[in-house]
Amino acid sequence: MKVSIIGTGYVGLVTGACLAEKGHQVTCVDINPDRVAALNRAESPIYEAGLEELLRKHVGKGLSATTDLTAAVLNTELTLIAVGTPFNGKEIDLSFVLGATKQIGAALKQKSSYHLVVVKSTVVPGTTDQHVLPALEAASGKKSGKDFGVGMNPEFLSEGEAVNDFLFPDRIVLGGIDQRSTDVLEELYKPFPFDVPRLRTNTRTAEMIKYASNSLLAALVSFTNELANLGSALGNIDTTEVMRGVHLSMYFRSRNKEGLPPITSFLKAGCGFGGSCLPKDVSALVVHGKKAGVPMPLLESVLRINEEQPERTVNLLRKHWSDLKNVRVAVLGLSFKPETSDVRESPAFPIMRELLDSGAVVKAFDPIAKHEAQKAFPEPKVDYCDSLDAALTGIDAVIVVTPWKEFKDVPALLAAKQPQVVLVDGRRAYDKQSVTKYEGIGL
Ligand code: UGA
Repeated sequence: MKVSIIGTGYVGLVTGACLAEKGHQVTCVDINPDRVAALNRAESPIYEAGLEELLRKHVGKGLSATTDLTAAVLNTELTLIAVGTPFNGKEIDLSFVLGATKQIGAALKQKSSYHLVVVKSTVVPGTTDQHVLPALEAASGKKSGKDFGVGMNPEFLSEGEAVNDFLFPDRIVLGGIDQRSTDVLEELYKPFPFDVPRLRTNTRTAEMIKYASNSLLAALVSFTNELANLGSALGNIDTTEVMRGVHLSMYFRSRNKEGLPPITSFLKAGCGFGGSCLPKDVSALVVHGKKAGVPMPLLESVLRINEEQPERTVNLLRKHWSDLKNVRVAVLGLSFKPETSDVRESPAFPIMRELLDSGAVVKAFDPIAKHEAQKAFPEPKVDYCDSLDAALTGIDAVIVVTPWKEFKDVPALLAAKQPQVVLVDGRRAYDKQSVTKYEGIGL
């Protein structure tokens, strides 16, 4: 199929490169001419495993980039909107989505053949049929369902694994305003393995599936952390083992399947969730619920538990020092998860804030996100180190926030130090016997 994609951010670009890999003719559109030029040289503006390789393979063949949205729409059959929907604390900002929509609508005015417009950006339920569809009709002077179709196709890409997630999806959600829209959207995913479940539904349900998926993940994390906090207070309970016991239930795994239930690869007691998706999506849904007159107390608690988790992590140090004044602490891992330089909503920042407010002396280290962290948390009192060795020199305690593989040997490095350093394992990544002074969430 001939496909245009508006927005070459993380979602748009991964989608473009992967659809080209699947044999489609893809035109990526962006307002930034430098970005477009870089893409046409097969240079990726973001780091995502496998992405640049795909660009090198397809740019100049099945994949190209342009700033000319109108031409891109006129020369393709289907347009995906993949621009940002930032959350400003009150609601998601739809200005980029609606800006792109208006331009697509204006292009449709000049087009005689049927075209499908699909929202891929994460938008709250009702956005596609209440905002995008009328804006397309107004700008094109045409009728949806007759002259053009409208769809909603949420993405389930995990940062750092986005290319793999796109090429080997666990599910494909196809939302459409009518049968024809959904059929054309389904055609886009024809080259994907036939055994990947396809769920056909309306656009609002598709939008809700995205929010529900991330809200459930967030709820599971806060649920685990709430149990972990109780387990720690009661004593002699290891929440990792508790959750293993829970996840062995038939509801989480198939009885005849060997090995650990898949959820265990995601879920661990820890210092809280961050990133550009989970905190933002849960917050946006809570606000959306309030606006609709439906408060969401469960999800509000999910957020509150998560906000408290950094302080609880620091409190593990207070078992060793009633006053943290002048205690020297190294915070390891500043990105919100390993294998990315993305520091958005990373729990490392509230942890460092709590340490500084308590009078501790703070060093910080991340294998790749130092620069991003310094920008997000420009606190002169934090000593941002260039190496793990430097971070681990002259300290009393370590808090591991993000379990980078580079930190695998931290217990061994600490074991050699005298006096013994306290290790706070913010992700339950280490064996609790690995150092003499070990503190883990949920222990
Ligand atoms: C998340 C979802 O996992 C994807 O399915 C979804 O498509 C994506 O959001 C999105 O909406 O685009 P992502 O934010 O990249 O993906 O990262 P996750 O691996 O889900 O991790 C999110 C945060 O939760 C990280 O800070 C991680 O450390 C934290 N986490 C995870 C916990 O604190 N505890 C856990 O048990 C698991």
